[in-house]
Amino acid sequence: MDTANPTDIDFRPPVLLTRRIPSSALTKLEAGSNVELYDGPLPLTRDELTRRLQGKHGLVCVLTDPVSKDVLEAAEDLQVVANIAVGYDNIDVAAARARGIVVTNTPDVLTDAVAEFTWALIFAVTRRIGEGERLVRRREWKGWALDFMLGMELRGKQLGIIGRGRIGRAVAARAPAFGMSVVFGKAATKPPASNLGAPEVSIDELLIGSDVVSIHTPLTTATRHLIDRRALARMKRSAYLINTARGPVVDEEALAWALKERLISGAALDVYEREPEVLPALLDLENVVLAPHLGSATRETRTAMAELAVNNALAVIHGHAPLTPVAS
Ligand code: GLV
Repeated sequence: MDTANPTDIDFRPPVLLTRRIPSSALTKLEAGSNVELYDGPLPLTRDELTRRLQGKHGLVCVLTDPVSKDVLEAAEDLQVVANIAVGYDNIDVAAARARGIVVTNTPDVLTDAVAEFTWALIFAVTRRIGEGERLVRRREWKGWALDFMLGMELRGKQLGIIGRGRIGRAVAARAPAFGMSVVFGKAATKPPASNLGAPEVSIDELLIGSDVVSIHTPLTTATRHLIDRRALARMKRSAYLINTARGPVVDEEALAWALKERLISGAALDVYEREPEVLPALLDLENVVLAPHLGSATRETRTAMAELAVNNALAVIHGHAPLTPVAS
């Protein structure tokens, strides 16, 4: 018999946690809720998620968990979905809202980690670090030469940033250290942003004039395949594309074509259209750096993300306002 009664003074609401999290966050979650930790095979399927959400008041999940409309509609007691990620395209937010379920994400705590990683990718691709490392490991390096594996210097070049949010701005803030000027892409549907510290230009202008184009926009219906064949054809042949946002913002087939045809010099990707699958055509190219979705992957940041998600879940299931609800 289920003896849990929400009016009990020490009632700990049931929460589903879909992945093991750092112990500081887990201890806190366990102190304020009755945690079911999913430790089974990944990816977690919709059926499994639906089954395990029965009777749960909270869900603490990650960006690969499919929190779709049907999953939410079957979760009759659910009050909060706390995503351990800043992006939340894995969640049907409209369906959650329609059922009065709060959705939260983890902004701010990962901004610096993702901005640092973006710069790591900019350096890696413009200075051909992955390509050079592969050559050395194949034992094919013949020695120093004046014209060997030349890359592009950043000083004096233009960085075009698509996305004017926290991460885009943090990437921009680091540009002066490397002598780069910055432009931001103007979102067609939004008013001009304030305090950007750099000009806003149309996306076309940004693509035509930038030496490095870096994507920091959420995945929405408006940004899906924003970078397609047409956009890539607008870029300089000497330019580089960086994506640490969401894979489907770039049409991967089009990118593989542009890299192969040398329409652009190179690309560095941390995210893919069908993770963890990577388009085979990309795997065969030397002028693309391929990272396995590591943007926020520092010990400090992943702990802070898990703690923030836990605090969001606990707040809602105990009747308080969430710390970082997603915008409507
Ligand atoms: C990572 O991709 C995130 O959205 O936090």
